[in-house]
Amino acid sequence: MPYLKLIKYPGAKTALLPQITEIYARSGCKIFVDVFGGSGAVSLNVDSQHTIYNDLNPDLVNLFEVVRRTPEGVTDFLSSFLEEIERKSDGIDSASFNDYIRKDGGLVLDKVLSSHGNRDNKEVAVLPENADFKKAMRTLFNLSTSFGGMGNTYGTSREKSVFRYLEKTMEIIFSVQRRAKSWEIRNLDFRELMTRYDSGNAFFYLDPPYPGKGWYDYNFGRKDFEDIGSLLRKIRGKYLMSLDFKHDGLLDIFGPPSFTEEYSNMNGRPEGRIPKRKKLFYTNVELNGQGSFDP
Ligand SMILES: C[S@@+](CC[C@H](N)C(=O)[O-])C[C@H]1O[C@@H](n2cnc3c(N)ncnc32)[C@H](O)[C@@H]1O
Repeated sequence: MPYLKLIKYPGAKTALLPQITEIYARSGCKIFVDVFGGSGAVSLNVDSQHTIYNDLNPDLVNLFEVVRRTPEGVTDFLSSFLEEIERKSDGIDSASFNDYIRKDGGLVLDKVLSSHGNRDNKEVAVLPENADFKKAMRTLFNLSTSFGGMGNTYGTSREKSVFRYLEKTMEIIFSVQRRAKSWEIRNLDFRELMTRYDSGNAFFYLDPPYPGKGWYDYNFGRKDFEDIGSLLRKIRGKYLMSLDFKHDGLLDIFGPPSFTEEYSNMNGRPEGRIPKRKKLFYTNVELNGQGSFDP
């Protein structure tokens, strides 16, 4: 079965799900804590009865809060938005269609959002006070039309049809809601989250921002990695952390990895030229034949 995915997001970890799922199961823990939840690709697909999704970015937290509270509101909105895009783009040839959506889609979105809000406010009524439906729809649009919502395109043929991508998003909203409805959603810095939720039953999955990339609204410096190292040394729970092989500058903080894996990185590559990327994994879970690892 294909993995469930709500948004395109730089560094989303669907490729690592087999390792994450296996090590979580092996840990015997019952609470999966997705410390740097991002796109939710891990929380949405990991096999866990109790999941805590966390990210410091309030826009992502708001998006998941809105989708799980009012999936009808989201699908209604997307359907009106796509209808309006189709109507407005009548006469635009297919080669220019994506550019049209990227350039003018935001204006169409705002127009549909204002009439949508006036027409029917039922989606707003079910939301907690701090959740914002309109903001969530803007986040969804930005992250569906560009790389990390930053205006750059992925440039692979898979991503050609922005319109089709949004149609597919509409189709999976209820599946996302089913998975996310039981989550605890948190908007905390990892230091506070890990301190607050540490227990013998907690399994922390850590996928920190790539140093030097600046892909996210919230990025990382060396001190942040040092703080992760200190936390991992003292927690009672289990953990798994994945880093990119290019982060070998962090080896003095974390030591040698517990194990490494290679996987294909699809982001931004033309089909047929998919290079293998090495991932470094750190864990304190007992591994077959490899023993546990203590950073
Ligand atoms: C590599 S991404 C995680 C990707 C995620 N595993 C996925 O599959 O989509 C790192 C995430 O950490 C978040 N972040 C940055 N600083 C943080 C902090 N201090 N505490 C918690 N989250 C933070 C970023 O907003 C970003 O979404």
